[in-house]
Amino acid sequence: MSRLWSNEEDIALTRAYIECSEDNMAGIGQERKSLWKKIIRMIYQILDVAGVQYEVAKDWTIWYAESHTQTHTQTQTSQFMSDIRNKMGSNNVNTRLEGKVAIVTGGASGIGASTVRLFWEQGAKVVIADIQDNLGQSLATKLGDNVLYVHCDVSDEEQVMNLVDTAVSKFGQLDIMYNNAGIMSGIFESILNTNKSDLERMFGVNLIGAFLGAKHAARVMIPNKKGCILFTASSCTKIGGISPHSYAASKYGVVGLTKNLACELGEHGIRVNCISPFGVLTGSNVGAEKEAMFEMMMGAVGNLQGKILKAEDIAKAALYLASDEASYVSGMNLVVDGGYSVVNPSLMKITKV
Ligand SMILES: NC(=O)c1ccc[n+]([C@@H]2O[C@H](COP(=O)([O-])OP(=O)(O)OC[C@H]3O[C@@H](n4cnc5c(N)ncnc54)[C@H](O)[C@@H]3O)[C@@H](O)[C@H]2O)c1
Repeated sequence: MSRLWSNEEDIALTRAYIECSEDNMAGIGQERKSLWKKIIRMIYQILDVAGVQYEVAKDWTIWYAESHTQTHTQTQTSQFMSDIRNKMGSNNVNTRLEGKVAIVTGGASGIGASTVRLFWEQGAKVVIADIQDNLGQSLATKLGDNVLYVHCDVSDEEQVMNLVDTAVSKFGQLDIMYNNAGIMSGIFESILNTNKSDLERMFGVNLIGAFLGAKHAARVMIPNKKGCILFTASSCTKIGGISPHSYAASKYGVVGLTKNLACELGEHGIRVNCISPFGVLTGSNVGAEKEAMFEMMMGAVGNLQGKILKAEDIAKAALYLASDEASYVSGMNLVVDGGYSVVNPSLMKITKV
C-alpha cells in the first residue's frame, strides 16, 4: 500500500473529503465544509508523520467525521480500533504488542492502570487483575472488548490459577504476565518496632503474589516455548534506607525471583525481567495539593532535574521489556530512578563548596 503525502496528496485529500461529505456531511453548509477540509488536511498530516498508510488514514478521517454527526457505541468504537490496527501492519508505531495477550496485576490503579492503557494502545488484549473491582471494571469497560477485568487477590493461589486460565480461555493464549500488584507502607519503623505480621502482610502480596503469578504463567507458557514474565520491584533494591524494612525485603525477594526464573525458564524461551521504579505518585485519592507537595519533594531529592517520574514512564519501561524489541533481554532489573541510586550526593555537595 502506498504512503500518503507524496504524489498522491491531492487525490487522497479529495477522496477523503468527498467521502466524508457524501456519506456523512449531508446538510452541512459551505463554511463548515471548508473548515472540515482544513481539519482533514491536519489529520492527514499528523497521521502521515506517524507513518500511517493511506487506506488507514482515510478510515480514520471518515470515522472522525462521522463521530461529529452520530454517536458510535463502545462496541463499534473498539471494533473500529481493532480493524484499524489490523490494517496498520508492522510499519505502524502503535503495534508493538499486536497479537499478544497480557495480564497486568494491580491493573486497576497507578502504574498497573497506565500499563493496561499503553499495552492496549499498542494492540495487546489485556486482562486487568485486581481487588478494586469498581476501578478495574470501569477501566475495562472504557477500553472495550479487548480488555477484561478479573477479580484476583494475588496472594491466593486458587484465584491466580483462575486468572491465568480465564485469560487463556477468553483470548486463547498468554504472552505477557506483568506481576505488578503491590502494597506499600510509608512508615519507616525501626526493626525493633517492626512486627512479624507487617513482614508477612508485605510478603504475602509483594513476593508470594508475584511468585504465584509467575508460577501459573509459566504453567501455560512452557508448552508454547515462549513468553514474557515481568515484575515491579523497586529502586529500594539498589540503595538502602529509602523504604521500610518489610517492603525492601519483599522487593529484594522479587529481584531474586527474577534472576532465578530467568535461569530456569530461559530453556523454554521465556524471558523474565523486573522494573524498579523510583518514587511515583499513585493511588486513587490524590489531590492537587498532595501532587504539588510530592513533586516538590521528589524534585529536591531526585538526581535527574527537570522531570518528575510518572506512572506512564514505568508503563513505557514495561512496554519495552514486553515487546519484541527486548527479545534477548532476560534476568534484568531495569532501574528507573533518573540515576538516583548510583549518585553519592553527599560527596557532590562537598566538591561544589
Ligand atoms: N509508586 C511508587 O512510588 C512505587 C515505587 C516503586 C515500586 N512500586 C511498586 O509498583 C507497583 C504498583 O504500585 P502503584 O504505585 O501503582 O500503587 P497503586 O496502589 O496505585 O496500585 C497498586 C494496585 O495493586 C492492587 N493490589 C493490592 N493488593 C492486591 C492483591 N492482594 N491482589 C491484587 N491486586 C492488589 C491495588 O488494588 C492497586 O490497584 C507495586 O508493586 C509497588 O510496590 C511503586
